[in-house]
Amino acid sequence: MPFYVKQGALPEKRHVVFKPRGGHTYEELVSRQGFSDIYSNVYHLYPPTTVTAVGETEALPVIPLADAVHRNRHLKTFALSAGGDWVRGRRVLAYNADVTVATVEPAESTDWFYRNARADELVFVHHGGGVLETMFGDLTVRSGDYVVIPRGVIHRWRFDDGRVKLLITETAGPVETPKHFRNQWGQLLEHAPYCERDLRTPVLNPPVDERGEFTLKVKLGDKLQTVVLGHHPFDLIGWDGFYYPWAFNIEDFMPVVGKVHLPPPVHVTFTGPGFVICSFVPRLFDFHQDAIPIPYAHSNVDSDEILYYVAGNFMSRKGIESESLTLHPMGYPHGPQPGLLEPSLGVKETVELAVMIDTFAPLTVAADAGPADDPDYPLSWATGDDQ
Ligand SMILES: [Fe+2]
Repeated sequence: MPFYVKQGALPEKRHVVFKPRGGHTYEELVSRQGFSDIYSNVYHLYPPTTVTAVGETEALPVIPLADAVHRNRHLKTFALSAGGDWVRGRRVLAYNADVTVATVEPAESTDWFYRNARADELVFVHHGGGVLETMFGDLTVRSGDYVVIPRGVIHRWRFDDGRVKLLITETAGPVETPKHFRNQWGQLLEHAPYCERDLRTPVLNPPVDERGEFTLKVKLGDKLQTVVLGHHPFDLIGWDGFYYPWAFNIEDFMPVVGKVHLPPPVHVTFTGPGFVICSFVPRLFDFHQDAIPIPYAHSNVDSDEILYYVAGNFMSRKGIESESLTLHPMGYPHGPQPGLLEPSLGVKETVELAVMIDTFAPLTVAADAGPADDPDYPLSWATGDDQ
């Protein structure tokens, strides 16, 4: 999405004969909004339409948590058991029509290929790393990466040995760089907190020229449909355009600081229909002599707020740990717990690292969140003060 990229061999014109290996190549247009938005043209060794068998349809049910009490929540996602693969092992924590938020700690490796047909995926890699293999090429991935995988991209994860923990947001619309970061030509502006150099794009390998049976699992919301392809799906000899997966590491986000406290919009990293994603990264605190570094209580009257805590000490919260996830829904103000204001005075910097997902429609807490729920959290503001 961010800019034009080309990889591999391409014909001089689109839609013309292209036989760099002697036989025909097969062009495929991958595009958003019909033919009216961003797209890439990709060139296959084999027709991309070849399906040799239609397999099973698995259910991936997402059901609401039985405890529907409307309250602030703290989900100890580290308490959720590892298990399954990186698709079927997802623990959906909260969802609405715009986003579905899950964590996964996969315990099984897979050989099949995957395509999300109805949602883009923003994968935050908390622990682990490896290679995201895609039809557009490979992306080397490490801890702290946001990986944006638009719908329709055939891919599979190859994780390195060691623990893997992912925070996955499936989105009904595209995940984009904020519009106010870009000039009229789409280039990231000088004052944006990251630039094109920070965005990593796939590197195409030589095409895999193999016929056979290759399993593809297609995610359709709460279903997973298996089909068999008659050739290896990574058979691209070249591609160009604006549509491809890409990665950005949270450590490459250059924070904006102010003389007094600046609100979360300075941390915004990605936007999309019905949501924003923000990055809280290590930074200097406010430098007014009487500045209060921790935030004021706030009522975001038309948004639900998810914060996923990655590392460091999050100054405005008590009782949370790395891999904690808090949900502050509309309906209540939230802010620092009592006793945090005074110790924050004069503090020069924070080393907190966290990902925030703000949604503009209410979230439903999902059943998978139940075992992670901290029932004491809603009352964590009840005692103590800063007098
Ligand atoms: Fe907040």
